[in-house]
Amino acid sequence: MNYVQFGGTGARVSEVAYGTDNLGNPFGADEATSRELLGRVLDAGINHIDTADVYAGGRAEEIIGSYLQDSGRRDEVFLTTKVTSSVGPGVNDYGSSKVHILNGIDSSLRKLRTDHVDLFLLHSFDPSTPVLEMVEALNDVVRSGKARYVGASNWASWRVMEALWMADTHGYARFDCLQSEFNIVRPGLANEAIPACKAQGVAVTAYSPLGAGFLTGKHRAVGPDSETKFGARDDERGGSLKRKYFDDRRFAVVDALKALSDESGEPMIRLALQWLFETPGLTSPIIGARRVDQLESTLEALSARAPDDVMTRVRDIADEFAESTWVNYPPPLSLQITARRS
Ligand SMILES: NC(=O)c1ccc[n+]([C@@H]2O[C@H](COP(=O)([O-])OP(=O)(O)OC[C@H]3O[C@@H](n4cnc5c(N)ncnc54)[C@H](OP(=O)(O)O)[C@@H]3O)[C@@H](O)[C@H]2O)c1
Repeated sequence: MNYVQFGGTGARVSEVAYGTDNLGNPFGADEATSRELLGRVLDAGINHIDTADVYAGGRAEEIIGSYLQDSGRRDEVFLTTKVTSSVGPGVNDYGSSKVHILNGIDSSLRKLRTDHVDLFLLHSFDPSTPVLEMVEALNDVVRSGKARYVGASNWASWRVMEALWMADTHGYARFDCLQSEFNIVRPGLANEAIPACKAQGVAVTAYSPLGAGFLTGKHRAVGPDSETKFGARDDERGGSLKRKYFDDRRFAVVDALKALSDESGEPMIRLALQWLFETPGLTSPIIGARRVDQLESTLEALSARAPDDVMTRVRDIADEFAESTWVNYPPPLSLQITARRS
C-alpha cells in the first residue's frame, strides 16, 4: 500500500480510503461480512476508514466500533465520520447547527467506542445555519479533543473558501478536507473545487470512485435490475444513481474503457482508480465494497499500475467526456492534465 500526505496536514493516509455505507445495510454486508471486510481492509494496509452517523441508520458506526474494540486495532486507523443528515424526528436532529454538531460528535463517539475521530465532516451544506456557527462548533470539537481534523462534504468550493476565511479571521480550526463525488464520468469536482482545495492545502477525498460500481462495466452486462446498488435498491439511492449514471454518453465511456481493458489486459478498476491517483490535488479515492470478493478484486487492481501509454488513452477518454459536458466552456480538467503531462 502507498501512503500520501493528507492535504496540508502532517498526517499520512493510505492512497485509498475504505467507505462503509454498505456495512450493516440490508442491501450491503451483514455484520459477519462487515467484520471480515474491515479486517481485510486493515490487513491490506488501508488505514483510512470513512463512515457517517446515517450509514445503515447508525449500524455502520456500531459495527466499526465493536470491530475496532474487539480487535484492538483502533490506533491503526485514521477514522472519519460525519454529521448533518437527519438522525431522528427532533427539530434539532438535522443540520449543522451547533446543537446538532455537538450532539452528533458525542453520539458518533459512543457508537464508534472511541474518545476521538481523526476527521469529522459536515455531510452536506445546511443553508439554514450561518457558516460562522458551523465553524465555531467544529472548532469546539477540535479544541475538546474529540476530532483531530474537520472539514465538509458535498460543499461548493466557494463555501469551503468562506469557511476557511472565517476560521482564519477568528483563529478557529481550518477545514482540512473536502469529500465529494468524483470519477471519470462525474468529473465536475475538477472544475473548481480540487484546484481551490489544492491551493489552500485542503485534502480532497473522492467518493464513488468507481461510480458506485458503474465503472466496473457490470451494468452493461447485467442491466439495471441486477443485484447492484443501482438495481437491488428500489429506493431514493438506487433511483438517484440511475439518474446520475445511466445515459448514452456515460455508457460510451464504459464501453471505451472496457475495450481498452480487454486490449491491454489492465483491469477496468485499475484504469479508473489510477486516473484518480493522477489527478493533481486529489488526495485519495474512497473505495466501497460490499463483498469480500469485490474487495479482493479491487486490491488486486491496486497491486500494480497501468503503463503510461495505456493511461494516455484513459486520459483521452476522460478528456473527451469532460469536454462534452462543458459546452462553450473551457474544460479545466483537460487543461490540468495537459499541464501535468508536460
Ligand atoms: N459524502 C457523501 O455524501 C458520500 C456519498 C456516497 C458515498 N460516500 C462514501 O464513499 C464510499 C464509497 O462510495 P461508493 O460505494 O459509491 O464507491 P464505489 O467504490 O464507486 O462503489 C462501490 C460499489 O461498487 C460495487 N463494487 C465495488 N467494488 C467492486 C468490484 N471489485 N467488482 C464489482 N463491483 C464492485 C459495489 O456495489 P454493488 O455490489 O451494489 O454493485 C460497491 O458497493 C461510501 O462507502 C461512503 O463511505 C460518501
